[in-house]
Amino acid sequence: MKANIKYIGCDDAQLDLFESQYVTPEGMCYNSYLIMDEKIAVMDSVDPRKTDEWLQNLSTALEGRTPDYLVVQHMEPDHSGSLSAFRKLYPTATIVASEKALSIMKQFDEKTCFTPTMAVKEGDTISLGKRTLQFIGAPMIHWPEVIVTYCPEEKTLFSADAFGKFGVIDADSDDWACEARRYYFNICGKYGVPVSTLLKKAAALDIQTICPLHGPILEDVKLKEAIKLYSIWGNYGVETEGVLVAHASIHGNTKKAALKLAEILQQKGAKKVVVADLCRDDMAEVIEDAFRMNKLVVCASSYDGDVFPPMHMFLWKLKLKAYQNRTIGILENGTWAPSAGKAMRAIIEQMKNVNIVEPTVTIRSSLKEADIPALEVLADGILA
Ligand code: FEO
Repeated sequence: MKANIKYIGCDDAQLDLFESQYVTPEGMCYNSYLIMDEKIAVMDSVDPRKTDEWLQNLSTALEGRTPDYLVVQHMEPDHSGSLSAFRKLYPTATIVASEKALSIMKQFDEKTCFTPTMAVKEGDTISLGKRTLQFIGAPMIHWPEVIVTYCPEEKTLFSADAFGKFGVIDADSDDWACEARRYYFNICGKYGVPVSTLLKKAAALDIQTICPLHGPILEDVKLKEAIKLYSIWGNYGVETEGVLVAHASIHGNTKKAALKLAEILQQKGAKKVVVADLCRDDMAEVIEDAFRMNKLVVCASSYDGDVFPPMHMFLWKLKLKAYQNRTIGILENGTWAPSAGKAMRAIIEQMKNVNIVEPTVTIRSSLKEADIPALEVLADGILA
């Protein structure tokens, strides 16, 4: 880090599920920073799982000094979960946050007295001495109270959850995008418009370093890559030309049809085909792939007059995350009364700007030679 900005965050290698729903095979980190100047600012706290370690990191980095400010950019507990402990140890530090964040603070902990506090909004600044903190509103990335902070003297943006990723900080490899993409679409994906707005504000700043609340600090090539990808993701653009074939198969027959369709797509020249098993693969990874590519085929068994639940969950999550601007094909399987196609279509039709390839392909119990022409037609429609 820079000489006067110290990293005081914590790795959490033992975390099983982030937000109780996303697997974290490489763990997670909760970033926090200390800006040392005539006055000292702490940038965010950490998850309560790591309070003691964070306070130790903070104490060591302070070298006997006392913090003047704790800037709270985001109130989700993975960053605000140690505020009360901080307040007990440093009762004179001013807690700086948006008005909304200060009210949420009391909702999470009505017993702690957080004063002194300072409410800040877009355009407000605090001088630390040689350095300045400029506050920028970033509502709905991905909570309403979020601010990000720019330090012009250090050309550094403290970006809250934006530009974050899954994984402990020291497990970072050259592949920032994979876990950043899974993080982005599953956590921030619904909020493409606010992300695009923040990118426009950031474009007016001279930024050489991004310090997010998760994942590595970004500079140079990685910073450029991250901004380029965020501009695609925030606009629901296409990162990779390709087809995701996602299947939810009870006994394996729908899966066989999905695999045959994938084979036909490849034979017909699809640039990239990815097959996902919604019953077994990490759903968050499949959501990421759906947003990454421009075409999707959903293949599912019928179930209780509806669609097999893993597919229902997948499509419901896509809709929740504002999946849009894509081409979608539908394949259903049913033994006596196929219902999956109608159920899938009902969710897909609620999505914005999707092109459904007609007709829905229906197979009965298992794929047969007589079904192949219908798969060929679906593949042609997807690739058209
Ligand atoms: Fe990393 Fe939205 O909390």
